[in-house]
Amino acid sequence: MTATDIRVLPYGDAAIAEAARVIAAGGCVAVPTETVYGLAADATSAAAVAGIFAAKGRPSFNPLIVHVADLAAAERVAVFDDDARDLAARFWPGPLTLVLPVREGAVASLVTAGLDSVAIRVPRHRAMQALLAATGRPLAAPSANASGTISPTLAAHVVASLGGRIALVIDDGATKAGLESTIVRGRTVLRPGPIAETSLFPRNGGGPESQAHTSETPTSHLGGNTSAIVAPGQLASHYAPRKPLRLNATTASADEYHIGFGAIQGDATLSDSGDIVEAAANLFAALHVADASDRPAIGVAPIPSDGIGAAINDRLTRAAHRD
Ligand code: TXA
Ligand code: MG
Repeated sequence: MTATDIRVLPYGDAAIAEAARVIAAGGCVAVPTETVYGLAADATSAAAVAGIFAAKGRPSFNPLIVHVADLAAAERVAVFDDDARDLAARFWPGPLTLVLPVREGAVASLVTAGLDSVAIRVPRHRAMQALLAATGRPLAAPSANASGTISPTLAAHVVASLGGRIALVIDDGATKAGLESTIVRGRTVLRPGPIAETSLFPRNGGGPESQAHTSETPTSHLGGNTSAIVAPGQLASHYAPRKPLRLNATTASADEYHIGFGAIQGDATLSDSGDIVEAAANLFAALHVADASDRPAIGVAPIPSDGIGAAINDRLTRAAHRD
């Protein structure tokens, strides 16, 4: 296959029906969610999930997020406690992923990379919801990009990264949040995202009591090897552009493509008005443009860490990291 073999279908009944056929046949399809485009396959089929890993070139120890239509479907895959149900009630459908004990046999073990927990969320986006309804299956879906590269917020990003490796993308325009979902286990944020920690746990004193009644058993089921696997997707070099990236660049040198924010204009800006939510939505698209520019390096203006700014800086720090 070449990049031109990938089909891009605009969101609609025909696209969803075709995507559901591909998934029923054990294939994978790129579909937008409210965070980033995901690469979806039947989470109950080991062969289908293996296809996701193959397309992304992803290390197989890295578990995937399972998407389901609603809380009832989520409870068929994972075991909820009161805290988890409370978070689900407040933030689903939406960009929140919960790590919970998995029900045996509910998804292929390749999805969880052999862990006895599963990362699960109920997405809000109409395309992902329509695909869940049409397939009637839990769908495993990591971001629809080659492993370790910048996440896709446009169908064109998917085509550039996975063209030739997957058959179909559903195009429903730019994703709204622009950053991957917030991942929570117990009362710990494993990956910052669109939902800020302060709105997740407004009464969280952080004391031992607030931890005591969660269902989490951090080490017992993992053979004491949790440090390596707590957030396995949080590899230091994740989300990396090909070019060196410099943080807190208030000005840029001639060889840098400068990404601005607020008063710092740059070659392109994440948000003229200094709007942090707008900046999150524009971040990955700006990194894609910077990576494709004629300049060999990238500088990014300082971004405040309030609210979703913490997640932006998390992604930028990883993008700047070089092994
Ligand atoms: O917004 C999103 O979450 C997007 C869209 C497509 O839904 N998906 C996404 O999936 O970002 P992915 O596969 O790129 O990220 C999965 C993250 C990784 O950081 C992984 O380590 C973590 O979820 N994860 C999955 N299962 C886990 C588990 N059982 N325990 C801890 N972390 C887990
Ligand atoms: Mg990813």
